[in-house]
Amino acid sequence: MRPISRRDALLLGGLGTAATVAGGAGLWWSLASTQQPTGGTLPAEDSGLHGPPELRSADGRLALTLEAAPGQVVLGGRRAGAFCYNGTVPGPTLRLRPGDELAIRLVNSLDGPTNLHVHGLHVSPQANGDNVFVAVRPGEGFDYSYRLPPDHPPGVYWYHPHHHGTVAGQIFAGLFGAIIVEDPDDIPVSRERILVVSDTTLDSAGNIAAVSPMERMAGREGELLLLNGQSTPLLTARPGERERWRIVNACVARFVRLRLDGQQLQLLGLDSGRSPDPETVSELLLAPGNRADLLMTAAAGESVLLALPYNRGGMPGMMGQGRLPARGTGALAVVRVDGEPGAPPGAVTARRAQEDLRSAPVAARRQLVLAMGGGPGGMGGGMGGMRFTINGREYSEARTDTVVAAGSVEEWTLINTSPMDHPFHLHVWPMQVIEDNGRVVDSVDLRDVVNVRANGRATVRIAFRDFSGRSAYHCHILDHEDLGMMGVIEVR
Ligand code: C2O
Ligand code: CU
Ligand code: CU
Repeated sequence: MRPISRRDALLLGGLGTAATVAGGAGLWWSLASTQQPTGGTLPAEDSGLHGPPELRSADGRLALTLEAAPGQVVLGGRRAGAFCYNGTVPGPTLRLRPGDELAIRLVNSLDGPTNLHVHGLHVSPQANGDNVFVAVRPGEGFDYSYRLPPDHPPGVYWYHPHHHGTVAGQIFAGLFGAIIVEDPDDIPVSRERILVVSDTTLDSAGNIAAVSPMERMAGREGELLLLNGQSTPLLTARPGERERWRIVNACVARFVRLRLDGQQLQLLGLDSGRSPDPETVSELLLAPGNRADLLMTAAAGESVLLALPYNRGGMPGMMGQGRLPARGTGALAVVRVDGEPGAPPGAVTARRAQEDLRSAPVAARRQLVLAMGGGPGGMGGGMGGMRFTINGREYSEARTDTVVAAGSVEEWTLINTSPMDHPFHLHVWPMQVIEDNGRVVDSVDLRDVVNVRANGRATVRIAFRDFSGRSAYHCHILDHEDLGMMGVIEVR
């Protein structure tokens, strides 16, 4: 064993309290991921955070080729055989402005079908837009084109494959990247960081580990918790500096409960929701698929960005053994603030408030029931034939489950009859949370992933504006989506 470095000691210190709660296993797991790789030789460890490559639109347009292919990368300090977009995990960050056109030629160099989804973007789902019914076969390409409306909400979005049945596996293997829609007015910061959280499991040969039917039903959580593909990278800043953090939860099933003691975090927005004034937060829960846009104001000292344990329930009908395997506290990054104080950042001006659908006339009310249960079908008869359904049905591409009048505002009540949380995601049209498990929301909270608690419910309102066509809603525990917890919506 190598001697304990200052960084490891800090991690041990930072995890001390949390590990008491989580038990020793979580502590072991967090530290194990920072150890030297066992196979292959790697260049000397560089613990600094690396950002994914960035591509920025110019003159209203960003055009790129995105190749999905197997590749050799370093994940959490280990050599890994993963899936990459343009050779990296995460793939390139795409920076856009409202009103821009994004043109992507997706090239499939995998050995199975794939496609592309721009998660959270308010763009057309038709034709070669954000159309999840397209399948791009191995060796083929497809030209996507997305036009953002001029009033598109600024914020953090992301892209990932959406070919039904293989979504969880392809994301777990490394296919995801961030999209930033820039603010119309600048927020003065010393630097901006893209922080993509993902998890995966590598086998002894360094390939992405296979998962069991049980793990798929629970929603797979990887042993390696990664930030931009790294294990607990080091972020450095000077006292008084303000940073903008763009965080994506790209995990297949893991909820990321963030905490950073010793530093100030202010929330600018979650998903496409924006608060007019940034609100100070001490903890932030990101369900799979959620994104956060944060300001971090640096204070001298060292802190650990933690992912705290979150209880998302258990499997139905299994009594005590149904508990999901508990992941302990994970360390996402070390934040070191020292040196000469940085120049004081300029003031953050208030931003425009978003439309409030609480006062909008509601054209229709619906209930969507998210359920897990026994019965035929499901896992091909295996594992007791668990079925993952919305309103009693498993996904079928050929069927349209929900027809909505274009331009109308609807109120949906999302009901979870299972003992496990299901983060509900709707494409294209953002949802305003009205009520969350009995708590009436008293501000405008616009999201595209709304967590519906185990045996709980949430009420949302949606304005079906700007675009028509067929698209999808589903559980963003992507194993559940692949297993059938998805429906087709048509706006016309
Ligand atoms: Cu992030 Cu339909 O997915
Ligand atoms: Cu999506
Ligand atoms: Cu689910």
